[in-house]
Amino acid sequence: MISLSDLRRFKKEGRKFSCLTCYDASMSKAMEVAQIDSVLIGDSLGMTIQGHDSTLPVTVRDMVYHTACVRRANQHAFIMADLPFMAYATTNDALKNAKKVMQAGAQMVKIEGGAWLADTVASLTRNGVPVCMHLGLTPQSVNVFGGYKVQARTRQAADTLLQECRTLVEAGAAILLLECVPAQVGKEVAQAFPETPVIGIGAGADTDGQVLVVQDMLGLTQGHVAKFVYNFMSTQSGPYAILDAIKTYHHAVTTNIFPALEQTFQIELK
Ligand code: KIV
Repeated sequence: MISLSDLRRFKKEGRKFSCLTCYDASMSKAMEVAQIDSVLIGDSLGMTIQGHDSTLPVTVRDMVYHTACVRRANQHAFIMADLPFMAYATTNDALKNAKKVMQAGAQMVKIEGGAWLADTVASLTRNGVPVCMHLGLTPQSVNVFGGYKVQARTRQAADTLLQECRTLVEAGAAILLLECVPAQVGKEVAQAFPETPVIGIGAGADTDGQVLVVQDMLGLTQGHVAKFVYNFMSTQSGPYAILDAIKTYHHAVTTNIFPALEQTFQIELK
């Protein structure tokens, strides 16, 4: 089973790693067979599984249920689980809720936010819970952002993001996840922290790992599809098309074919 040390080693070796969201056992088994390096039980399940229009209604109980489903079917991938909206508003909440998803089978929790969560990160880490910090576009704050938009588009905003990352890494954050930022920002963050794997979704080709929502990369998402998504089903046919699409994704990430320029925000920082 892949561990946090393996992901750190991959970064040192310049070996990119693959990550996909996963919420159920059959998809988790397919990801095990395809040797996906890491799976994320994302609170995106609020949309993809539950049909809500945001991640806000997702509960800790939902996360525990889906984490256990994924864990039972996968003995290969490093398993991360989101703490959902308001589940880490206080350090005590974070500890109590992290305990539940870790006991359900997660190896790490992911929380969204910035430097103000440094004490929470330190406390979780001290108590044996590795933390992935999700920065950039953080969907739990969609009502503060006023929509799903590319973040850190200016030099000043990118520097602020870098500083937030530094504070969080110093507090103990073991992985950083950047969503929807210019490729230049993804590159700068990955280079700034040689010991800390950086996962990107819409953060360009230079992060250490890549993640996509599995329904997006299987072409199941109706309506607006984000620029950073590629439909890996579009080149498949035959009886094992889904498994083949997941294998193709793993290959494309680990050989640096995905993301290509078309899936990247090329924005000059001014
Ligand atoms: O919940 C989720 O699926 C996520 C990914 C978009 C990174 O946080």
